[in-house]
Amino acid sequence: MDLNKKNIVLIGMMGSGKSTIGYLLSKTIDLKFIDIDKVIEKETGLKIHNIFEKRGEAYFRNLEEKITLKFLKSKRKIISLGGGGFLNKSIKKETLINNISFWLNWKNTTIIKRVYRSKKRPLAFNLNENELKKLIIERSKIYSEANFKINCENLTKNMIVNQIKNLYAKN
Ligand code: S3P
Repeated sequence: MDLNKKNIVLIGMMGSGKSTIGYLLSKTIDLKFIDIDKVIEKETGLKIHNIFEKRGEAYFRNLEEKITLKFLKSKRKIISLGGGGFLNKSIKKETLINNISFWLNWKNTTIIKRVYRSKKRPLAFNLNENELKKLIIERSKIYSEANFKINCENLTKNMIVNQIKNLYAKN
């Protein structure tokens, strides 16, 4: 077992499948899966939308930064970031240092369909379709700094997992 294997970091919008793909990937590769949103929920005992409601976004972002940086500094993990994680300068910098990152990219319309008015997603819940589209376009510029971009639109989940595995094996 190579103890120094780099982390796989999954990046992308809400609804891009980071958690699902991360979990599936962890079934086929000997790395532990960490879903940052789930760790935050466990630590606070609150669902993400309740954290936003009760403690505010700034509180969430602070905790997200602290927890994400801790895992990014470890090894042998598959880490799915929250959709806003990579926008944080420290998280982005650390991700690009010693991890292999993958942006799960979809058509804007697909993401909008998936997250529009989603009660689980406080950030998307309050935006109309146009505002969501603007957010996706703005964020895509930053997501594109990931090491690899996976165009997921016409791929099955297994195909996405395999692409990531192949790219990871070569790097
Ligand atoms: C957020 C995405 C969410 C969660 C929080 C904020 C964002 O994660 O971290 O609601 O800013 O895009 P998912 O991408 O897993 O939905």
